[in-house]
Amino acid sequence: MKFFIDTANLDQIREAQALGVLDGVTTNPSLMAKEGITGRNNILKHYVDICTIVDGDVSAEVISTDFEGMIKEGEELAELHDQIVVKVPMIKDGVKALKYFSDKGIRTNCTLVFSVGQALLAAKAGATYVSPFIGRLDDISTDGLNLIAEIRHVYDNYAFETQILAASVRHTMHVIDCAKIGADVMTGPLSSIEGLLKHPLTDIGLAKFLADYQKGN
Ligand code: E4P
Repeated sequence: MKFFIDTANLDQIREAQALGVLDGVTTNPSLMAKEGITGRNNILKHYVDICTIVDGDVSAEVISTDFEGMIKEGEELAELHDQIVVKVPMIKDGVKALKYFSDKGIRTNCTLVFSVGQALLAAKAGATYVSPFIGRLDDISTDGLNLIAEIRHVYDNYAFETQILAASVRHTMHVIDCAKIGADVMTGPLSSIEGLLKHPLTDIGLAKFLADYQKGN
């Protein structure tokens, strides 16, 4: 399972990279705005900065919602760095754009996916990644993890190569449950990854080992 971090914060990306288990980064316009990154040139530069920190794929989202606009923006983003994956929304022109990019060998991440039907379309269009937003489904009392399981089932039925990127991961149990289901990738905050470290018996056991060492020295 690949671990992506879902942020545009360079310090957090550096910290996740330093842990040695990071496979990539996802961003979106809201995450960029949260870091105060505004204006096209600053945004493009920020993507390059992220690429220089992380070894792996960096999703950069198009803002256009029409086919021509998405193609123009996506090609510009893909030119920035070979780690860039063009993030395209699950709308009609987005599906056309996914197919266009796929035919051109430009890697894509289909975002804002909330149903199996949408995930099926993204795979048919040749998306590299599909991003079902599990946390946002949970927010409206729908089972986000069940969507991951259903997409896994459908993709396996037809051996689609599109990778299931569980997005909108909010906490560590989401990560563990996505791994059990067989999501190819998860993207979440640093805390969702660091939470995997924690177990009280590890802390108690280590404290005892260190105390016993001190007694003998
Ligand atoms: C996916 O790529 C999105 O950036 C992200 O996971 C959305 O998460 P949120 O629902 O926590 O905003």
